[in-house]
Amino acid sequence: MYPGDGIGPEVTDAAVAVLTAVQKKSKTFDLAFERFDWGMPHFERHGRVAPEDFLATLRGFDAVFLGAVGWPARLPDHITLTPLIRLRQAFDLYACVRPARTFKGVHGPLRSEEPIDLVVVRENSEGEYVDNGGALAVNTPNEVALQTAVHTRRGVERILRFSFELARTRRRRLAMITKSNAQRYAYVLWDRLLVEIAAEFEDIAVEKLHIDAATLELVRRPHTFDVVVGSNLFGDILSDLTGGITGSLGLNPSANLNPERRFPSLFEPVHGSAPDIAGKGIANPTAAVLSAAMMLDWLGEASTATLVRTAVDRALAAGNLTPDVGGTLTTTQMTDAIVQQFE
Ligand code: NAI
Ligand code: MG
Repeated sequence: MYPGDGIGPEVTDAAVAVLTAVQKKSKTFDLAFERFDWGMPHFERHGRVAPEDFLATLRGFDAVFLGAVGWPARLPDHITLTPLIRLRQAFDLYACVRPARTFKGVHGPLRSEEPIDLVVVRENSEGEYVDNGGALAVNTPNEVALQTAVHTRRGVERILRFSFELARTRRRRLAMITKSNAQRYAYVLWDRLLVEIAAEFEDIAVEKLHIDAATLELVRRPHTFDVVVGSNLFGDILSDLTGGITGSLGLNPSANLNPERRFPSLFEPVHGSAPDIAGKGIANPTAAVLSAAMMLDWLGEASTATLVRTAVDRALAAGNLTPDVGGTLTTTQMTDAIVQQFE
């Protein structure tokens, strides 16, 4: 466990409480946790956000659970977030799976109450987040910054194939998001590979949208989307949007998967460390709890994962709501409301 900064530790505690309770009920497994207090406190003591060998430390675990990282008032984000991005790339966690659905009892901002149930699949190992660039004449009037994205045939093919396979387990619809009308090399490669790979999945309905149109359509007709796949940057942006349209970012979990299981996979809420509400005890623990359910699925405990999701659904439907979704409960009260569903 890497609880991190801001509300990260608050929601991680909630996830651990739910996992501990559900484990007692299902009795089919015995999860052992180890906690690593990396992030700002570590930075203040050691001058680095995480120890140099943090990847080797995590390598031996079955799964990694992360709360959130980032404390922009005290340290620039590109420093605090480096271990997370390194973790995703070094462990080849190329498939970032971010489900977003509406819940009974939670009202989203959209006029239409038609249920939303989609999954954003974000390419998580390359694209726009590769550490590839440089700067010249820094802090002079002639300053130049270069940042070049990297999209590989292998990287795009594997994320598209993963997304098609996922669509097969769901409503068999796939939307691919690019900006190939303006970015003539990278996203044109995505377009070509989509045609190639779609031929292997003729049972899946495919649509293609540019990122600008996608943001509009996700607001206008979100219920029509099933699997939505995009590059690292677009998947990141779209999953905040899908959090917003389903009611709160505090509801949306994610799994950063190495589908071949050569490395431990990483589970974390979509949201960040939310400094605006950190320390107030009012963070919505739902995203973290549902991330823990995704972790249980990945560890082969699907029926226990379903218990957790059902408990969350019931708790929300019964009107247990934190302030981000219009309620007054604290993080602990919301966590208790979820745990009570097991009793
Ligand atoms: P954020 O996701 O932390 O917050 C956005 C908004 O959503 C805020 O108003 C926040 O209060 C609200 N929110 C988020 N999670 C919530 C929850 N569980 N319950 C209730 N409300 C919630 O994004 P922001 O403010 O852009 O970033 C804050 C810090 O987090 C930055 O340092 C950023 O770099 C970092 N970050 C880290 C991520 C990670 O660890 N995976 C992901 C995104 C941002
Ligand atoms: Mg994000």
